[in-house]
Parts: sequence; C-alpha cells; structure tokens
Amino acid sequence: MSKGLYLVKILVQFMSVKTLQKELGYTKYTLGERLSYYEPSKNISQKTFAQELSQSIKQKQKSINPKFFYDEKGSKLFEKICTLPEYYLTRSETNILKQLDGKLQSYLDGNFRLVELGSGSAQKTRILIDILTKSQKHVEYFPIDISNTLKNSSTVLESDYKKLHITGIIDNYENGLEFIKNYDDMKNLIVFLGSSFGNFDPENGIKFLQKINSSMKKGDLFLVGLDLVKDKKILHEAYNDLQGITAQFNLNILTRINSELGGNFDTRKFAHHAVYNENQNKIEIYLRSLVKQTVKIPNANLMLEIDEDELIHTENSYKYTISQIKQMFTSTGYQIEEIWSDDKRYYSLALFSKK
Ligand code: AVJ
Repeated sequence: MSKGLYLVKILVQFMSVKTLQKELGYTKYTLGERLSYYEPSKNISQKTFAQELSQSIKQKQKSINPKFFYDEKGSKLFEKICTLPEYYLTRSETNILKQLDGKLQSYLDGNFRLVELGSGSAQKTRILIDILTKSQKHVEYFPIDISNTLKNSSTVLESDYKKLHITGIIDNYENGLEFIKNYDDMKNLIVFLGSSFGNFDPENGIKFLQKINSSMKKGDLFLVGLDLVKDKKILHEAYNDLQGITAQFNLNILTRINSELGGNFDTRKFAHHAVYNENQNKIEIYLRSLVKQTVKIPNANLMLEIDEDELIHTENSYKYTISQIKQMFTSTGYQIEEIWSDDKRYYSLALFSKK
C-alpha cells in the first residue's frame, strides 16, 4: 500500500473510532503504555440497574437479572465458586483450553485480535494469550466486561505479557459488540468462555448469537464455552455446594440492591434455592423468602410484598447436547469449525466462523 493511501486509511479509521466513541458516549482512559479502556458515563448504567430491577421485580414471577451478580463482592464470590470441588465447569473448560495449544493454530491464518466477552479475572484467557503470543509479534486484546475488575485484571496482564496491547471496554456485551463492529480490518477471535451463554433463555440466546454474528467479518472466529447435559446429581451439586459459597453469591445480589439502591433486604430472611429442570435442560436459581415480608427499595421506587416461600428468580443456567449446539449455531449464520470436549463429556468448547 502506498504511503498516501496508508495515511488516508489511518485517518479514516481514527475518525470512525472518534465518531463511535462519541455516539456511544465513551471516555477513553489510559492506564499504561499498552493499556487503555473505554467507559460509558456512570449515571447511565446506574439508572439501568434501578429501571431494570423495578421492571423485573414487579412481574408475577419476581426476578433479578443475573448480570447484576457481579459487583466487586459478587465477582470475588464467583471466583471462589470456580475453585469449588463441585463446580466442574471451570476445571473442565481449563483442561480443554490447555489441549487447544497446537490445535487452534490450524484455524488461525494471520494475525488475530482476541476479543473477550465477560473477561472476569481473565485467568483462562491466559491460555489463549499464550497460544496467540507464540505465533504473533503483537497481540491485541479487547476485553469487554461490565465489571470494574477489568481494570485490575488488565493491569496484571499488561505487566505479564510484553507483547500484549490491551483496550478494555467496560460495558455490556451488546454495546461492546457495537464497539468492535467495523473497528478495523484485523481479524477477530471472539471468545465467550465459562458457559455464560447458558444464562440466556433460548429466544434471547438466538438473538445474541445473531448479534455476535452481525458484528463479525468474514474470516473472524468465535469460540464459545458451553456446559453439556449430564447426570442431574452432578448438576445439582455444582449449584448447591457444601460450603455454601453459591448461596452467598446468590444472596449478595440483595446486599448490592441495599447498598446501591437503598434497599432494606435482610439476607437472613432468604435462602438459596437451585434446582435442575430436566424438561428444559437448565439449572434454575432462586432466592426463597423464609417469611412473609415487606421490602423497600427507595431508589428504584419500590415497595415489595413477598410471601413466605415465594421465589425470586435470579438465574437460569442452560445445559446443551452436541446436536442442540450444532442446530443453534448453524441456524444463526455460523459454520462449525470444531467442537471440543473433555474426557467425561461434561463441557464443550466450540469454534465457529461466519457462514
Ligand atoms: C457464570 C453463568 C456460567 O451458570 O454456572 C455459578 C454462574 N451461578 N453458580 C453458571 C453461576 C451459580 C455461572 N455462569
């Protein structure tokens, strides 16, 4: 490419990124030489919490969106869940990821940027960064996460990997995907690990897969971790651990409502309740009220009447069969590249390209 053309290209790219930032209302912060992040204005997301909560908790079946689990405390508790003996998901996924070294490379022609949805502590990401840094001079990493922990985990990653250039996006997945769409023409490896996709009900899952697909260019890849249907005892124990960490994680959402929205939930008056729904292949998680009670949430303008034994739904965690996975992704614009699984067939990592 000629120098003149190159400069024009850079200019156009710079302008479109600028427009994007402005349109989506982001501010760019620089944390290091190879580390920056984008954050939307704070009061926007704050408003969303109160609005979304008042919507969902007014329904006949009261519910709270599981994305609100992940404040600082919630993120820490989730990290703890990942190390529990009953919670096989993280271990299974890590094992499959480790075995990808040598296998994934055959799908990577040229330089890829790693785009991660919901990076969390970015522990498993390291395995992928290791694989990419072996064959690339520089690796761009775009973590998209609604939690502020992104800043901390990225700072550690930056100092551990000299080849890594990190641009974090502190926002929800939809906005993050808008952000990377048409960003430039470097190929993206989008990864969505940890079975987080399992939070979507089938209808919204399909919409989300279409959303990701529409943010992909030809040549981009999508790697997703999905939990598989298995013996229900194993599933039940994974969400009802003996130490009660999952219960703490679940109850913490009420504590968050108290501190951020001025609520007066008494967590001692609720119990963790997780059951496997065999008809729909999903774990359903609830908070069960131990007594009849009234709860006020002033900043969301709420006054709740809760019956004894009434359930507040906090999460669905869907499990899939391999044939469901194939069906779901081929019907939403993907071509299956490979579906890897562990020896026990507990968990799968699936790689797709855009059809
Ligand atoms: C982060 C959604 C994958 O569903 O297994 C773990 C969350 N909830 N224990 C899951 C969770 C209770 C987790 N995901």
